[in-house]
Amino acid sequence: MGKGLFITLEGVDGVGKTTQALLLKAALEQRGHQVVHTFEPGGTELGSRIRQLLLNPEHTELSSMTEILLYAADRAQHVHEKVRPALAAGKTVICERFVDSSLAYQGYGLGLELAAIEAVNHWATGGLKPDLTIYLDADPADCLARTKKDRIAQRTLEYYGRVRAGFLAIAQAEPERFKVISAVGTLEQVASRVLKAVEGVI
Ligand code: TMP
Repeated sequence: MGKGLFITLEGVDGVGKTTQALLLKAALEQRGHQVVHTFEPGGTELGSRIRQLLLNPEHTELSSMTEILLYAADRAQHVHEKVRPALAAGKTVICERFVDSSLAYQGYGLGLELAAIEAVNHWATGGLKPDLTIYLDADPADCLARTKKDRIAQRTLEYYGRVRAGFLAIAQAEPERFKVISAVGTLEQVASRVLKAVEGVI
């Protein structure tokens, strides 16, 4: 059994990750890859319950620490149950969101300690790192207009400005792995930019 390719897609809410993940899946399957498309939070049955805890706007008492740990718990289960087995079977995994989302949303967005978020997630994932991360970049003001206002998406535009700046800081720190792709344009234009970045690593 070979080791499959682990690709993650990142971006603020409403940027179009799911559409682009599915277009990328179809393009890679056409080239003969076996592809698993998945997402966080909620890519497993247990995880879908954690997702409800995290996103229900009624959960106003949920602390920042609990928020970090619930995302990490969802991720631990997802990596164990879905991502690692698929990679071990030689499949390409396309995952919407991974540790970078916790760094951007809870670290840069909420101003919580990046090193602690890294440490807890390193533990939760057994140190699993994406081979390639595509960050779909667009103005959060345009993206958020298209989303349902769950517990996270109802945060302010200032918050989302920090989240975007966080993703761009990760890109600067890890330019080999973390590629910034403009999400402005038609679906086809964005899809072809994404595919070009992926072709650089396969
Ligand atoms: P989704 O809308 O892309 O499914 O993600 C749900 C929300 O969870 C979205 O607002 C981003 C947020 N999120 C975090 O804040 N931290 C994380 O680690 C992840 C995976 C998602």
